[in-house]
Amino acid sequence: MSSSSGDLLADRRYEWGAGALKDHDFEGAADLFQQVIEIAPQWAAAHLSLGDALMGLGDPAGAQIAWGHAARLDPSGVLGAALKIAASGAGRAPASAPREYVRALFDEYAPRFDQHLREKLSYRGPELILSAIERACQITGREFWFDRALDLGCGTGLMAAQLWKRVDSMNGCDLSPVMIEGAQLSGKYSNLSVADVCDYLVSQGENSSDLVVAADVFVYIGDLEHILAESARVVEPGGLFAFSVQRGEGAEWSLGPDLRYAHSRAYIARLASEYGFTIAVLDDASTRKDAGVEVPGLVAILSRA
Ligand SMILES: C[S@@+](CC[C@H](N)C(=O)[O-])C[C@H]1O[C@@H](n2cnc3c(N)ncnc32)[C@H](O)[C@@H]1O
Repeated sequence: MSSSSGDLLADRRYEWGAGALKDHDFEGAADLFQQVIEIAPQWAAAHLSLGDALMGLGDPAGAQIAWGHAARLDPSGVLGAALKIAASGAGRAPASAPREYVRALFDEYAPRFDQHLREKLSYRGPELILSAIERACQITGREFWFDRALDLGCGTGLMAAQLWKRVDSMNGCDLSPVMIEGAQLSGKYSNLSVADVCDYLVSQGENSSDLVVAADVFVYIGDLEHILAESARVVEPGGLFAFSVQRGEGAEWSLGPDLRYAHSRAYIARLASEYGFTIAVLDDASTRKDAGVEVPGLVAILSRA
């Protein structure tokens, strides 16, 4: 999605609007975005930002209309308009965040990812998953060692930095090429692919791994059915599937106002039993903070029966 309308005046007003939005001057921002739309009515970004300003003004119905225009003008979904509409209570949440949206988000975020996650969000998903894997090995009586591990949504390689002393070889995939460059630099992976989690799992052979991990990835994927089914095929009997989720209550999975998906404990338990896993560990554990507050989460280590 273009970051320019192609019209200098519209671009400049858009920048002013973005500044006003950042300062919580929602009225000023909405006015400027409306002016931009008059000049460049086909520019999806202006409609999206108008929706954000209207939401700030306490006008969800107006925001949903503006986001709806953005969604129609952005069929790739890179701007995440459909997520905003669903998160604001109108329409069904998509089964996962659009691939283009995730790719753009993390390509942009990658250069400051490690520092921001560690320092601002106190991210500790990989450490919590590693210690839960160790516990699962004790519980299931298997050696704390893996021959062929897969890291789904590997990002810059923070999970491999924890796991590498416990694996013979580790492969990873991620939708974001810039995140994958970071993982490459870590030197901890045998092979890395720019790929969607589901496509990547489908490309793997039956019983070809003894450990599959996904740290803080399912916040971008709501419906985990296909992933559990494919993991059950890829993980060999006795192998582990280790992941974290943001914990939700009530619905099996839901999209929150932070545009992240949450999953219930009951949903993880149902999928585990349906796809031939036993639960070795299913801990309440927060992997990161949001605006200084711990985000409720679950760390799951499933053992392939
Ligand atoms: C919060 S980061 C976590 C990265 C890494 N696992 C870690 O713990 O540091 C989420 C990562 O998941 C990736 N991701 C999200 N949805 C994905 C999908 N459907 N397929 C592949 N990667 C995905 C993003 O590109 C991003 O790098």
